[in-house]
Amino acid sequence: MLDHQPVINHNLTPDVDPQWTHEPNCEHCSGCDSEISVAKADLEAFVVGVLEKHGVGRAEGEVVARVLVSSDLRGIPSHGVARLGRYLAGIGTGFIVPGVEPEVVEPVPAIAVIDAKNGLGQVVSELAMDLAIAKAKTNGIGMVTVKNSNHYGIAGYYALKALDQRMIGVSMTNAAPLVVPTFGRQVMFGTNPIAFAAPASNHPGFMLDTATSVVPRGKLEVYDRNRTQMPPGWAMDQDGYDALNPGLVLRNLVERAGGGILPLGGRGELHSGYKGYGLAVMVDVLCGVLSGAAYGPFVYDMKRNEQKTGVAAPNVGHFFMAIDIERFMPLDEFEARMAEYIDVLRDGEKALDQERIYVHGEKEFEKAACHAKCGVPLAKNVFENLCTIAKQCGHAAPVTRA
Ligand SMILES: NC(=O)c1ccc[n+]([C@@H]2O[C@H](COP(=O)([O-])OP(=O)(O)OC[C@H]3O[C@@H](n4cnc5c(N)ncnc54)[C@H](O)[C@@H]3O)[C@@H](O)[C@H]2O)c1
Repeated sequence: MLDHQPVINHNLTPDVDPQWTHEPNCEHCSGCDSEISVAKADLEAFVVGVLEKHGVGRAEGEVVARVLVSSDLRGIPSHGVARLGRYLAGIGTGFIVPGVEPEVVEPVPAIAVIDAKNGLGQVVSELAMDLAIAKAKTNGIGMVTVKNSNHYGIAGYYALKALDQRMIGVSMTNAAPLVVPTFGRQVMFGTNPIAFAAPASNHPGFMLDTATSVVPRGKLEVYDRNRTQMPPGWAMDQDGYDALNPGLVLRNLVERAGGGILPLGGRGELHSGYKGYGLAVMVDVLCGVLSGAAYGPFVYDMKRNEQKTGVAAPNVGHFFMAIDIERFMPLDEFEARMAEYIDVLRDGEKALDQERIYVHGEKEFEKAACHAKCGVPLAKNVFENLCTIAKQCGHAAPVTRA
């Protein structure tokens, strides 16, 4: 279908605003071309310090800093320190409550059901994944759901924790509704990411970490800020047409005027958009329905959640699982089989003009190694935004590398 004429909405793109601080990933990490970089430890210390100024205890701040900085480190700036402003706003508004004690119920040894009590998403999620891993060590498998939580950052951070223990790890979350179902034109669920990690010998491991939508909202923001049309197939407008104008879609999302991001596979049935739609709902069955959290269009529906729980909060839900491989086969054997599989995938015949076949996680592991050495790259507007945040709370600006 044809799209409407693009009308870029410049009002949606202020220069320094935490809502608009997404940058495209650096594609080739042989010396990032970002002018500003901050050593990993300095960036983490900055986040901890700023959070402390906003009433977040040091231990909690360190968890949030680890998760955010690991995202930038791995080349996923859309979910890194650029998000700090949003968390501070959540703390300021009161729907993110630092310092709360989550309630953990363990109905059977392999399962835990956690009420996060609206605490920081990263803090309860680290606790939940650690618990899933501990349960897998004693029971072979550990599964943990979380309700009444907040945005937890990249799904992959938590799955990586299982990988560090040479286990299979799964992490999922639901999110604010931004995606339309196949044949619909009203946002019904979030970009609901799935992370799945499995160890392999001689490789960092297989590490799938992806939204279940064609693109996350951050990609639309990048195109909007660059005043560029989107490729068809990413989003639809309020009437259900392919949208090329990112500003229009973003404005419609904010105003809930109709249209939104498309599920993996795109619009309609031609490229199987119903598969992404199904995966997103599957994530929500585990993270929202099963956990007792909000689900679908009700995530971040403050009014409805207040009626249901007595607290006006997003009620985000998460799901974590760890699998002890040893219970299935010797760990070394599994890791050798994974390594062989990865090698076979990478060594396959390349398509025209392609030099390399990647396996999931490979790009991010390479970027993390590079950024750990040469500093975490920050886009200029992200750095400026951090400086503004620092000034507002009386904290020193992040220390940049020479
Ligand atoms: N907390 C939330 O609400 C939320 C919501 C959506 C997304 N996210 C996070 O956003 C991040 C980005 O998500 P995304 O959907 O934009 O990811 P993406 O489209 O960049 O896909 C990333 C995944 O694809 C792999 N990949 C990329 N190119 C590849 C290739 N050529 N061959 C093989 N594998 C390849 C990567 O290694 C990674 O596993 C993720 O970390 C996700 O967890 C969080």
